[in-house]
Amino acid sequence: MREKLEKIKAEALGQIEASDGLEKLNEIRVAYLGKKGQLTSVLKSMKDVAPEDRPKVGQLVNEARELIENRLEETRKELARRAREIQLKKEVIDVTLPAKKANIGHSHPNTIALEEVERIFIGMGYEVVEGPEIELDEYNFTKLNIPPNHPAKDEQDTFYINKDIVLRTQTSPVQARTMEKGKLPIRMISPGRVFRSDEVDATHSPSFHQVEGLVIDKHITFADLKGTLAEFARELFGEETRVKFRPHHFPFTEPSAEVDVSCFKCGGKGCRFCKGSGWIEILGCGMVHPHVLEMCGIDPQEYTGFAFGVGLERIALLKYEIDDMRLLYENDIRFLKQF
Ligand code: DAH
Repeated sequence: MREKLEKIKAEALGQIEASDGLEKLNEIRVAYLGKKGQLTSVLKSMKDVAPEDRPKVGQLVNEARELIENRLEETRKELARRAREIQLKKEVIDVTLPAKKANIGHSHPNTIALEEVERIFIGMGYEVVEGPEIELDEYNFTKLNIPPNHPAKDEQDTFYINKDIVLRTQTSPVQARTMEKGKLPIRMISPGRVFRSDEVDATHSPSFHQVEGLVIDKHITFADLKGTLAEFARELFGEETRVKFRPHHFPFTEPSAEVDVSCFKCGGKGCRFCKGSGWIEILGCGMVHPHVLEMCGIDPQEYTGFAFGVGLERIALLKYEIDDMRLLYENDIRFLKQF
């Protein structure tokens, strides 16, 4: 009997030692200590043992059971510890590894150009004001000296919401809105989105941006306009930049001009960039038409002023030598990352 017990014990311990998982341990527990287990069957065969030997054998069986139970528990703990260790190794973080480069956003070329324009004019004492993108026909046209049936209404292919309301075709209506407030003098720029029913191509989009400028004060002359825009061009395109005022026509200014800057690529000699002319057109401007001043409640005998309008995309395209406006709207991160 004793030998049989020793054999069972040795076998059980051997199996425990060789076990590689909690399931296996459970099988061992059932095989030796379970209701039909080997040790249990030894207890059941106690009746074959001589009565005087029974306490001794009973004690041996109990010792064996205790030993196997203890070993099972120790092994269970050890296996659990190892499993935890493997898990921790898997989760380990090497803090000395170089960090992944975080992808932070980029300013859009339009935004960079706008910030530059704002910086220049704020530096000259201008205020930045905004106007509505959905505008009354009256402000977009009539108050800017563009009466009903005026051909300029066709020039700027207008999105009409109804016969009185449009998507503004220009930022110029903000001129009228600012003058009407009656706070003089005025020194303001007004950046914003404008809309025209144009087909999309390399130089056109149904929605683009302008920056309007307006100065109204006593004794403002064309010389102020020239000096201001020459300074603007130098700050934007470099100290060497020269400006040229070409007579033009806008209904809301008189006289009106278009402004060219000397090509900042070739310095005016003529190159592919300026199409050989040495000059690049950048904006429209003029002295505010007395009729416009009057319609907006300002006495043209007392006050004069100048205005200008710049296409923001045009500035961005020129400054960054981008040759297709569509790139500005596609938001391809590979393109935007370059600025
Ligand atoms: N609003 C004009 C346009 O969209 C640009 C412009 C020209 C604005 C002359 C002005 C200006 O303020 O004086 O074509």
